[in-house]
Amino acid sequence: MSVILELKDVTKAYDAFKVVDGFNFKVNQGELRCLLGPNGAGKTTTIDLITGRQKSTSGTIIFDGRAITSLREDKIAKRGVGRKFQVPAVFKELTVRDNLRVALNKNTDPFANMFRFGRKEGRERLQEVVELAGLQDRLDELGGNLSHGETQWLEIGMVLTQDPKLLLMDEPTAGMTEQETQKTSEIFNRLKGKHTLVVVEHDMAFVREIADVITLMHLGKTLAEGPMEEVENDPKVKEVYLGSEGITDAA
Ligand SMILES: Nc1ncnc2c1ncn2[C@@H]1O[C@H](COP(=O)(O)OP(=O)(O)O)[C@@H](O)[C@H]1O
Ligand SMILES: [Mg+2]
Repeated sequence: MSVILELKDVTKAYDAFKVVDGFNFKVNQGELRCLLGPNGAGKTTTIDLITGRQKSTSGTIIFDGRAITSLREDKIAKRGVGRKFQVPAVFKELTVRDNLRVALNKNTDPFANMFRFGRKEGRERLQEVVELAGLQDRLDELGGNLSHGETQWLEIGMVLTQDPKLLLMDEPTAGMTEQETQKTSEIFNRLKGKHTLVVVEHDMAFVREIADVITLMHLGKTLAEGPMEEVENDPKVKEVYLGSEGITDAA
């Protein structure tokens, strides 16, 4: 399996405080990796560093065979890194279908857009995204009438219109009901293989449903990495969550 994303000794410091501290991280093509860890571990900062929203103090980030460490955020996005933000970017007054159309046509390079999505390809991509995000029954609904969960799925669909090779999501199930979380795990399981995903998540039941390998971050570094059962039973991990119910209690 080939590595699509690699962080080598990446550090993000604020004065003397290293939020991300010599972090090493490798994700294979098509993998769904969950990034866990207590509050303040450096998870969101890591996502920001990968997307270029923040710049690292030192270290190298390689994506799809090339260093992206010092590239601008929009250039990194163009290379195929997509991100779902927590604050919804859905247009309330547009239907689900039109929200997806707007997202599909949103491309900073009009020529790239023209060649990538001609009329037919555009329609096909839209249909594919609708199925992946499970929005078939809601296409004519206005964005403003969607439930919290549906809004999140539409957002995922909107990011998917750009066909990102790597998709980053920070706490995608926050605020979702149990059923919505369940449906989200089905969406993620459909995305696996074709897209590479890095998901920051606290809901352990959800992580169990979707992840093959998890990386547990603590104080800006990897504390443990491997299959869920292995990480859960790691004495170092138990120590970090001491006094709580264990990893399950992470918030
Ligand atoms: N601009 C900043 N200046 C100083 N410290 C920051 C800044 N942004 C984040 N931090 C600190 O970095 C740490 C890691 O934050 P974050 O990446 O959001 O962690 P997580 O997402 O794992 O909860 C926290 O202790 C936070 O207070
Ligand atoms: Mg965070």
